[in-house]
Amino acid sequence: MSTPTPRPTPTAQPLAHNPSTRPPHTPTQYPAPPHHQTPTPQYPLPAQSPVPTQNPVPTQGGASSAPTAQYPVPTQQPVSAQAVAQRPPHTQHEFQHLPAALSGRGLVKYYGDVVGLAGVDVAVRPGEALAVMGPSGNGKTTLLHVLAGILVPDQGEVWLGNDRVDQLSDGQRTVLRRRRLGFVFQDNQLLAELPADENVALPLMVDGMSRREAVGRARATLAQVGLANEAGRRPGELSGGQAQRVAIARALVGEPQVVFADEPTGALDAATGGQVIDLLVGAATHRGAAVVVVTHDDAVAARCHRVVRIVDGRVSER
Ligand SMILES: Nc1ncnc2c1ncn2[C@@H]1O[C@H](COP(=O)(O)OP(=O)(O)OP(=O)(O)O)[C@@H](O)[C@H]1O
Ligand SMILES: [Mg+2]
Repeated sequence: MSTPTPRPTPTAQPLAHNPSTRPPHTPTQYPAPPHHQTPTPQYPLPAQSPVPTQNPVPTQGGASSAPTAQYPVPTQQPVSAQAVAQRPPHTQHEFQHLPAALSGRGLVKYYGDVVGLAGVDVAVRPGEALAVMGPSGNGKTTLLHVLAGILVPDQGEVWLGNDRVDQLSDGQRTVLRRRRLGFVFQDNQLLAELPADENVALPLMVDGMSRREAVGRARATLAQVGLANEAGRRPGELSGGQAQRVAIARALVGEPQVVFADEPTGALDAATGGQVIDLLVGAATHRGAAVVVVTHDDAVAARCHRVVRIVDGRVSER
């Protein structure tokens, strides 16, 4: 497994409210597709999950293939949910030349006789948000858990950059999840007795960071999700949307390469859910992280760059 790259300390600057402050996707980085000029462009919603076009080559302790020089480097001005909502959307064209941040190939997973996944190929690239949709009980959560190294597939491969995840031990996958992945759940799963900043700091402290530094980073990340003034409040003193923003800060504080979210807006009203998903997608992709969101909600999927649909454990036509 590769050594994690040094992580920049998040800044405590407030969210920018001007879309023009987003780091530009320069023509040399991303040739702008024609519809970038149109006032109401549509996200392309491809019918099929892409099979990774580049087979990741295993390395012996080598660096991850995450193309740090290619995707937009976070600036000192985090992007706001409002700015994200107003931005010209990314398209596949912006990502297709990048090596996958995360990919699954030929994934099969059984629960006894029950088929969870029946052969899934899927990839998500740095800075790209992928929505996973489909009917209940058809394998969405199973796919997310297999991609995140929570479950091990019976067949197939999972790659995080150049690192093969499914062949790691339980302990190695636990460390990998803590250091390189972020998670947002439907019910935020914050610890009720801890204030927001300590909830966010916890994964850093578990990973050995000093309390002082971890809480400092946590407060900076909370400020980036608009909760600078709520850092000392416990989850019970927050609204549902605020609590979910704390959960997003907790997912992002470790500068993950991929953020996974399973029904992150499922417990929120439509308006709050929209703000939360904008924040999640905007804040994560702004940092160059990939996002995988399981959702039943078309409005959530519409805020992602790409959608795959899982039916009977297979990626199907949307
Ligand atoms: N731990 C388990 N043990 C046995 N069967 C399971 C387990 N987890 C999931 N399954 C089964 O695997 C299939 C896929 O489940 P999964 O949770 O991935 O569906 P889902 O698409 O996330 O559904 P939902 O939208 O309801 O969350 C279902 O038939 C489910 O009953
Ligand atoms: Mg599920």
